[in-house]
Amino acid sequence: MTTSITNGVSDLHLEGDKMTTGTEDIVDPWNVVSSSDKGIDYDKLITRFGSSHIDQELKDRFEKVTGKQVHHLLRRGIFFSHRDMHSILNQYEAGKPFYLYTGRGPSSSSMHLGHLIPFILCKWLQDVFSVPIVIQLTDDEKCLWKDIKLEEANKMAYENAKDIIAIGFDINKTFIFADLDYIGQCPEFYRNMIRIQKCVTFNQVKGIFGFGDSDVIGKICFPAVQAAPALSTSFPQIFNDKKIPCLIPCAIDQDPYFRMMRDVAPRLGFQKPALLHSVFFPALQGAKTKMSASDPNSTILLTDTPKQLKSKINKHAFSGGQATVEEHRERGGNCDVDIAYQYLTFFLDDDDKLEKIRKDYSSGAMLTGELKKVLIDIVTPILQSHQERRAKITDEVLKQYMTPKKLNFD
Ligand code: TRP
Repeated sequence: MTTSITNGVSDLHLEGDKMTTGTEDIVDPWNVVSSSDKGIDYDKLITRFGSSHIDQELKDRFEKVTGKQVHHLLRRGIFFSHRDMHSILNQYEAGKPFYLYTGRGPSSSSMHLGHLIPFILCKWLQDVFSVPIVIQLTDDEKCLWKDIKLEEANKMAYENAKDIIAIGFDINKTFIFADLDYIGQCPEFYRNMIRIQKCVTFNQVKGIFGFGDSDVIGKICFPAVQAAPALSTSFPQIFNDKKIPCLIPCAIDQDPYFRMMRDVAPRLGFQKPALLHSVFFPALQGAKTKMSASDPNSTILLTDTPKQLKSKINKHAFSGGQATVEEHRERGGNCDVDIAYQYLTFFLDDDDKLEKIRKDYSSGAMLTGELKKVLIDIVTPILQSHQERRAKITDEVLKQYMTPKKLNFD
């Protein structure tokens, strides 16, 4: 069954419960599974979701408009897909404002390395465009989907907020909110949720998200909660009642929420939110699935000690190397499936160094143990300085980021 929202041109062309990419890949907000060692086929996903490639032309425009080299997450295609990014750049060039929106589902008190990715890009975007960002912590979502009490989910939202703050967001341009609290603080947020709920039928969310008859009704309404921050009027303390365009950087599994919102936005008199989509951060065991905070072996946590980090990478990181040193020297390693190499593409910003590693590993000049050591040497200081910055975040600082207030924004 193909579902598409009825009025106007729709972004929604989804089949059945699961959005598959035609092969056996499964990608939706709750499942990411690929049948291939190389991971999800992202080109197919773009075709299927109807988004656009972040091509060289767009990257060149980014550089022209901002006067800065684009971030390595964009340069290397880790953010690979977009919707309407050209409109955002047009508006920026014309001196018009926009804001960033992203989020996190607080399902564990410790975040993992992969969770940093969208936030790292958001911080860079905040700096180069000098724009406000709103960050939603969906404690309500995690309570509905997981075996987690409301109070626990809310607590974890505040723990996660500390990790997010530690990434370095500008205190004068950043608002972080837990749904369970903000909904009671801001009537306009709830009003926008109802406006959105009024535009989407059960049939449509069933088509988009695969909800069934035995899903609790909280799940059925939740998409409106995640969509509402894409309307600037959900933040009257920041934007008054102004309709400001929204740009959402996120992993591509979150796209269904925003496809829905893009369909609804014009009916509510808003511009459709623009999007930047990232690939998934692969699990240590290989790119067939993404990193998950609930499996400690597949995951590097932001709280891991240098010793834990070293042992996880050495023990569990899937290797694209050959079985013996002799064979490896002769045939070389396969960077496409090697997790240590993959992680370097996320965290080593020096293009020349990365290219040299790729060549040396592929030719067999570099061994798996050596490659893993490079990764350990890169990630250890990243984790350590993150932990230091996080430890300095007091309750007072946390409160400043999470209290609805006016931001630096005209
Ligand atoms: N649902 C997301 C998660 O489980 C959290 C989230 C809320 C989000 N709003 C968002 C992610 C906006 C990206 C963009 O992680």
